[in-house]
Amino acid sequence: RPAVRVALLGCGVVGSEVVRLLTTQASDLAARVGAPLELVGVAVRDVDAPRDPVVDRALLTADAEALVAKADVVVEVVGGIEPARGLLLRAIEHGAAVVTANKALLAEDGPTLYQAADAAAVDLYFEAAVAGAIPLVRPVRESLTGDRVHRVLGIVNGTTNYVLDRMATDGLELADAVAEAQALGYAEADPTADVEGFDAAAKAAILASLAFHTRVSIDDVDRQGIMQITADDVAWAARTGHVIKLLAIADRRTGEDGAEGVQVRVHPALVPLSHPLAGVRGAFNAVFVEADAAGELMFYGRGAGGAPTASAVLGDVVSAARHRVHGGRGPAESWYAALPVLPAESA
Ligand code: HSE
Repeated sequence: RPAVRVALLGCGVVGSEVVRLLTTQASDLAARVGAPLELVGVAVRDVDAPRDPVVDRALLTADAEALVAKADVVVEVVGGIEPARGLLLRAIEHGAAVVTANKALLAEDGPTLYQAADAAAVDLYFEAAVAGAIPLVRPVRESLTGDRVHRVLGIVNGTTNYVLDRMATDGLELADAVAEAQALGYAEADPTADVEGFDAAAKAAILASLAFHTRVSIDDVDRQGIMQITADDVAWAARTGHVIKLLAIADRRTGEDGAEGVQVRVHPALVPLSHPLAGVRGAFNAVFVEADAAGELMFYGRGAGGAPTASAVLGDVVSAARHRVHGGRGPAESWYAALPVLPAESA
């Protein structure tokens, strides 16, 4: 069978690990897909910048537009709104399947991508956009669609969890802990997105959209980050048998008019030490999903970092590539119910 051509947009912490997995697992991936996966190019801003040696420099190009036009599967790990959105739309126009880790884009303008993918009948996968390695998007998007979800709650940002954990266990100041999270490859390019709660809010919006079959954008999320949290707050929490965690919560609520809606919020919370979320250490994430028939489900694992995020990306690449080889398509969105999104103060 002819190779499935994979183009990679972005080659930072996650992109390099995607290349590593494509390279080291090549024969296993070919067997699973039913055809080899051929990396046809890696688009980067600066082709001369130092890179992980796993990346073949001959594959580097600054011409992302040309690259997406010659791929069957386009993987986007650039982040941010533009040029990512334009490139993904161009890839879809060319009939390529799209795999993205871009939570900011999905939370701000997901419907544009969904509609384009739908119109072109191509796959749009984004497991890596929420909670790193943890299979969470697929369960919420596919496995639980026969059920009625009433709450999603958890820790979806690895950086802030790492920071709060270092403050609690080692007495670090927030800024020093953030610098560590950056060095470990957990933080966003601009760590403000992590500490101000934007990253968690984007993930909460994506999860809420999928869980409640309605459109939730990042602007609908009531957001508070961890910038105001001091070493004293953390110590006081510990003395009272608590730990401070940045939580993302989306739940069904009855609004002021008596109609049901969904409310989504991100804020620091005091979690009792006896609660399972209190034991979530470092850059790990944990998310509870509560549904009528399923009851309570807990998802736990590495929520940030190059290799864990690349694991989720590769799973999506294999799914999309299988469809190229054997036919079929991943899920299309059908936000039929249009549950209204309630402002935080009405709950
Ligand atoms: N900066 C993100 C986090 C990376 O810390 O969770 C994973 O999306």
